[in-house]
Amino acid sequence: MSDLFQAARPPMTTEVLTVQPQAPALEALRRAAAILQRGGLVAFPTETVYGLGANALDADACARIFAAKGRPAHNPIIVHVADAASVLPLVAAWPEQAERLAQRFWPGPLTLVLPRSDRVPSIVTAGGPTVAVRVPAHPVALALLRESSLPIAAPSANRSMQLSPTTAEHVVQSLNGRIDLILDGGPATGGLESTVLDLSRQPPVLLRPGLVTVAELESIIGAVVLPMHASAPTAAPLPSPGMLPRHYAPRTPLIAIEGNATDEATRRRAAGQRVACVRFGPSSADALPVERQVDLPGEPAGSAARLYAVLHELDALGLDAILVELPPATQEWLAVRDRLRRAAAR
Ligand code: TXA
Ligand code: MG
Repeated sequence: MSDLFQAARPPMTTEVLTVQPQAPALEALRRAAAILQRGGLVAFPTETVYGLGANALDADACARIFAAKGRPAHNPIIVHVADAASVLPLVAAWPEQAERLAQRFWPGPLTLVLPRSDRVPSIVTAGGPTVAVRVPAHPVALALLRESSLPIAAPSANRSMQLSPTTAEHVVQSLNGRIDLILDGGPATGGLESTVLDLSRQPPVLLRPGLVTVAELESIIGAVVLPMHASAPTAAPLPSPGMLPRHYAPRTPLIAIEGNATDEATRRRAAGQRVACVRFGPSSADALPVERQVDLPGEPAGSAARLYAVLHELDALGLDAILVELPPATQEWLAVRDRLRRAAAR
């Protein structure tokens, strides 16, 4: 194994190629595709967050993803494809529910977990019987899938346990020198990882809330089961090996608060701490006793689009804590609350 990493060791400084998000240059795509075809690693923008891609059919290439991220081998990877037809060789079943969801939400931020076919290397599925697949909606991701003619295995392009990247600069900060190339196609506009739905079980189970909401899923396929941890912060048997409670975390301790953060901010300031506060919704006039205050929109999609960028920015300030006033405990805020609770878990 170590010989293998030796032979394909990425350059000391990762190359960054800037591309037009809507019309990426063919030259850049060809270069990225060639790297994927020879087993290398390419980070690229999707409509959710940046992904770290490898040829999904090449077990050695996928092993390099785990090495570059420091990702535990028991956490399976999502496979990205250009269209629903390209899923068929990767799965052992394509149920009608999958067909209906694909027609409604692909390309888009929905990942479907299905029984795998034996073409999928077991490292991609972490040895499990299922594979997670999605068609991303970003023109750069789609163009790369088409140019390479490969299914691309791609987790978020960050070191394991760190915040997901929504810009190429975030990827550089996390993975410089560990991967071959970054396609910089500007900020990822969705800002939160895809919704993950397990269709290998009935009724289907929501493994990760995301920008495609439960209400939207249920309008197409009927009842969906929510994961235990989505409705309660306490530990419960986790439905997916990758759904670790602590994930997506900044280095600065993040304190999630139900309700108003003023008391906590005041107490910490009195103790000599430097803290920031993030709030959602119409910004109230009262300024908190904090170094930095960020008011995100009172609307889930708008907040999701900015959340990680704000946390990356606050994390860089080296404060003692980031206080977050959680948005309301309603279904439309499920994904944002889920990520905040994971970031707060220690
Ligand atoms: O938006 C996204 O989904 C981004 C972009 C790059 O597509 N990708 C992403 O990948 O967030 P990652 O690896 O950071 O998260 C994938 C999640 C993990 O929680 C993993 O455990 C779960 O999907 N997953 C992957 N394959 C699975 C499988 N076969 N069964 C159950 N869960 C799976
Ligand atoms: Mg991730």
